Amino acid sequence: MKCVDDFRLRLGKQELVPIMVGGMGVDISTVALSLEAARLGGIGHISDAMVPTVTDRRFNTKFVKDKLKQYKFNVENADKSVVKFDLDILAEATKMHVGSAMDAKKGDGLIFINCMEKLTMNAPKETLRVRMQTAMDAGIDGITLAAGLHLGSFALIEDHPRFRDVKLGIIVSSLRALQLFLKKSARTGRLPDYVVVEGPLAGGHLGFGMDWAQYDLATIVAEIHAWMQAEQLDIPLIPAGGIFTGSDAVGFLENGASAVQVATRFTVTSECGLPEKVQQEYFKATEDDIEVNQLSPTGYPMRMIKSCPAIGDGIRPNCEAYGYLLDANGSCAYIQAYNREVAAHPGERRIKVMDKTCLCTHMRNFDCWTCGQYTYRLKDTTRRNEDGSYQILSAEHVFKDYQFSKDGKVALPD
Ligand SMILES: Cc1cc2nc3c(=O)[nH]c(=O)nc-3n(C[C@H](O)[C@H](O)[C@H](O)COP(=O)(O)O)c2cc1C
Repeated sequence: MKCVDDFRLRLGKQELVPIMVGGMGVDISTVALSLEAARLGGIGHISDAMVPTVTDRRFNTKFVKDKLKQYKFNVENADKSVVKFDLDILAEATKMHVGSAMDAKKGDGLIFINCMEKLTMNAPKETLRVRMQTAMDAGIDGITLAAGLHLGSFALIEDHPRFRDVKLGIIVSSLRALQLFLKKSARTGRLPDYVVVEGPLAGGHLGFGMDWAQYDLATIVAEIHAWMQAEQLDIPLIPAGGIFTGSDAVGFLENGASAVQVATRFTVTSECGLPEKVQQEYFKATEDDIEVNQLSPTGYPMRMIKSCPAIGDGIRPNCEAYGYLLDANGSCAYIQAYNREVAAHPGERRIKVMDKTCLCTHMRNFDCWTCGQYTYRLKDTTRRNEDGSYQILSAEHVFKDYQFSKDGKVALPD
């Protein structure tokens, strides 16, 4: 019986442990977590979601406060089109965030950044270009294009001197999405260096509709693998979503995958950005506590723990401070939902908004508990403390469990 360590991921000249820790937005996959994955010879991800907000917390910058001050006059206004990001500040924050990871990196692994197209920031192209280019300037090893179709994203960075040297990957959930992407980006003369195939059991946003349960990761990977062989395309395939044990990973590696992307198991590690109180909620969750809903203003279904504070909350939209999901016209589905409820309940101090959530505010505060489907199995990966709480794991423990475990087993901590 094999273990993950019997395989290697080849990316250009590099050989890596074929374990990639997926990006988890708004600093759930922290720099500290990515550094551990890289130190252990795999690939870690930081995320480019709400970076100015993240740097405020990490480096005491005042980006959010300054932006709110600049746009305070607009907070009562439903039209948020005036609320713009300063591209120089966005670059400065990205440089700090990415630079701090790359400066501290040790070991043979790599650190990538998860770049979300759906973070439209009231100027989709301009802000995405700055986020990607600055990450490349700051020495990032690779960029994973996520949450969106990214049909024009390669073109946004094709003039960058590192365009052919930085590793570029894309996340897709179907063969069709991959075909579309390859067709659209062919003009740049550059193929992706890897393709993450994300199935319906993943955390975060899903690339499926509400019929997600009818899809199966192994089937999608097999279909993409067969098509790539027929087209003689030699691009590493990296399945993601519900790969819970080392043996699950081996199953994919033996069937044409080059590595696996995993995330949920790392949400309960001390290097992960979730506060410990929230991590205990992840441990406690049962299968019934987890749902896929349509609360995200991005329009993509998202998986969450049902009891999280983000669900049903009716906070005033915080776009003057954040505004990461404002589309090219300065609107966001939450603003509409919020204003509809305010109009329907005149004079009420606290309203509820059931159909959408203010994702920026709640992700920023770790109040939106997005999670993978197998979060309900996390309790089986650790021991209980005397007070009944669950023992938080180290990223090294989880990484090595994926790397060396056999027979579907999960190693418990000492
Ligand atoms: C808490 C959490 C947050 C996530 N946030 C993002 C994100 O910001 N961008 C993204 O592309 N994927 C995100 N994902 C998906 C993961 O990167 C990964 O592909 C997937 O969850 C792997 O499946 P697993 O969690 O079952 O191991 C997130 C997953 C989790 C659990």
